[in-house]
Amino acid sequence: MTKYLLDVDTGIDDALALVYLASLPDTEFVAVTASPGNVDVQQVARNTLAILELCGRRDVDVAVGAEGPLSVPLVTTPETHGPQGLGHAVLPAPAGTVSGRHAADLWVEAARARPGELTALITAPLTNFALAIRREPRLPELLGKVVIMGGSFYHQGNTTPTAEWNTHVDPHAAKEVYAAYRGLPLERLPIICSLDTTERMEMKPEHLRRLAEEARCPAPELVLPEQPEGVRSTAGNPLVRHLSDALRFYFEFHRHYDQGYLAHVHDYFAAGVAAGTLDCSTRPATVDVEVESTLLMGTTVADYRALWGHPFNARIVSENHPEAAFDELVTAVGSLARRLG
Ligand code: BDR
Ligand code: CA
Repeated sequence: MTKYLLDVDTGIDDALALVYLASLPDTEFVAVTASPGNVDVQQVARNTLAILELCGRRDVDVAVGAEGPLSVPLVTTPETHGPQGLGHAVLPAPAGTVSGRHAADLWVEAARARPGELTALITAPLTNFALAIRREPRLPELLGKVVIMGGSFYHQGNTTPTAEWNTHVDPHAAKEVYAAYRGLPLERLPIICSLDTTERMEMKPEHLRRLAEEARCPAPELVLPEQPEGVRSTAGNPLVRHLSDALRFYFEFHRHYDQGYLAHVHDYFAAGVAAGTLDCSTRPATVDVEVESTLLMGTTVADYRALWGHPFNARIVSENHPEAAFDELVTAVGSLARRLG
């Protein structure tokens, strides 16, 4: 089994990441914690519970942590993920409830209990992760593989011209997290999935159509650019229907920003890297985050050549393979949808 600690801000692509991990036969969710980001943290937790339940994962500990970023006010993004965070999808209210524990406590306890065994995936601002490291500074040594979706290096930002969303929401947390990894051996350094490679992950209506076929849906799942915005799926398969409604919103959002009728599914890619199912190459670097300049707030900088004279603190994904990644998504999630019916 791969035992995961996840921190998410669900979010359409976070939802896809959760569904993908839930579709793998060897996934154990030790805890899934909520950071504020795409939507407020209570909504993140509700969405996360609802998505896990949709996938048949009813007994997962879902906990909230911080209500907002460490040092700046919270900004959410309903225009990107919809008012509730799941686009046009309306899921049944979850039966489960949120744990009474603080997200950071859950992370620290789980990591202490199973040193070196847990795979950590953060597809949200790094607020809870920074708080967990404050509580247990040895956390970077206690976790196994760590994968972070965040940052933008030699690539334009998606929030400001130079900054990526997760890092921009809580730049101080990101700076603390990267600082905590300085000087650790290479194999302990977090793997960073930045926009440089996640924006290559262009999910298209075609992928949804194939996924529904894999799920053995009787009618083709057609999400078409010429359809009016907000048309809802009529698929009988609930997982296909909700993913289709969520992703349609994401396609519409990207089109509004002249990126085409497609969606960058950043967090799914990071989930595949965490699971080890998606091939990628990485390059070690020293990463730091700008937290003072108004112009460059939340911008991530990578020093690949040790020009700052600091030890490396991250491994940045330098190459990925989107076509193989979408084949994997279609097969894995399509067969989960078929099993769930
Ligand atoms: C990141 O920002 C969020 O909106 C997405 O869920 C993803 O984690 C991409 O910049
Ligand atoms: Ca996210």
